[in-house]
This record gives sequence, C-alpha cells and structure tokens, in this order.
Amino acid sequence: MAILEILEYPDGILSKPVLPVTDINGDLQQQIDDMAQTMYHAPGVGLAASQVGINQCFLVYDVSPRDDKRSLHVLINPRIVCQEGEILSENEGCLSVPDYRSDVVRFSQIQVEGIDRDGKPISFDAEGYLAIVLQHEIDHLQGILFIDRISVLKRNLYKKRIKKRLRQS
Ligand code: NI
Repeated sequence: MAILEILEYPDGILSKPVLPVTDINGDLQQQIDDMAQTMYHAPGVGLAASQVGINQCFLVYDVSPRDDKRSLHVLINPRIVCQEGEILSENEGCLSVPDYRSDVVRFSQIQVEGIDRDGKPISFDAEGYLAIVLQHEIDHLQGILFIDRISVLKRNLYKKRIKKRLRQS
C-alpha cells in the first residue's frame, strides 16, 4: 500500500468529471487500498479518486468515530438517485482545499446507488452527517468542490487568498 499525493485547489484535475469504472480489476483494488490508506493517514472521512489524480469514478469513506474500529466503505460509480430536505453542513472542509472551512447547504436525506468493490450493486439511504460526506465526495467525482457551493463573495475571497499565497511562494 502507498500514501498518495492529495491534489489541492487550484489543480485543474479537481474540476474535471471522472470516467466511469468499467472493469473492477486488480489495479482498481490496489488503488482502493492506497486511497483508504491515504484517507486514514490525512486523516479524513472520505476521499474521491479525482483527489489523487485517478480518472475513475469511485470513492472511499469511513465516518466511524476515530477511536472506534475502522469501517471502510467503497463506492464505485456512485450516484444520488433521490434527494430531499435541507441541512446546514457546518464548517465543512476538504483535504483538497487546505486551511479553509465554510458552512454549506446540503440535502438532509439522499438515496445512493452504486457498486461495491466486489462488483455487487448497492443501494441505501443516508441522512445527516453521512449524507453530507457522500454529497461532498460524489461532488468531487463530478469536478465540484465545496467552495463551488458557497456564495460568490466567499468563494472570491478564498480564491484571492490562494492567488496571493501562490504569488508569494
Ligand atoms: Ni473533499
């Protein structure tokens, strides 16, 4: 297993949608294991393939409390087939958007379909924190960052800060 480099905004790869997974082979299993290790190492509760420069539609997540036993979940070609309600995701952050947090309005309940790492179709409902994490990670696979879901004013302030930092480095 390996710890992969997590791409950071404004890397253009983060704003491109990924390709669907068509073959669940050994390479993919290896990438899943590497991504899980990278996520736990960061540490984070979710990681999408595009964040480590893999142009494939899958993600890993684990929302179990830190001291608890790990519970890794893998979602391949995930899609939200149903969404309703509203929840304020307070202080949302992202491994690809360092040193920035913001409140984001998310759906409070979603239904997700996809396949697991064995190729079995899965479908489940999620609400609350899990629903927030899944919306955030599925957004990544479509080239959307959480800063794309905040006000233009806030987003422009963040972009200005990053541009300034890049100039200085
Ligand atoms: Ni993220």
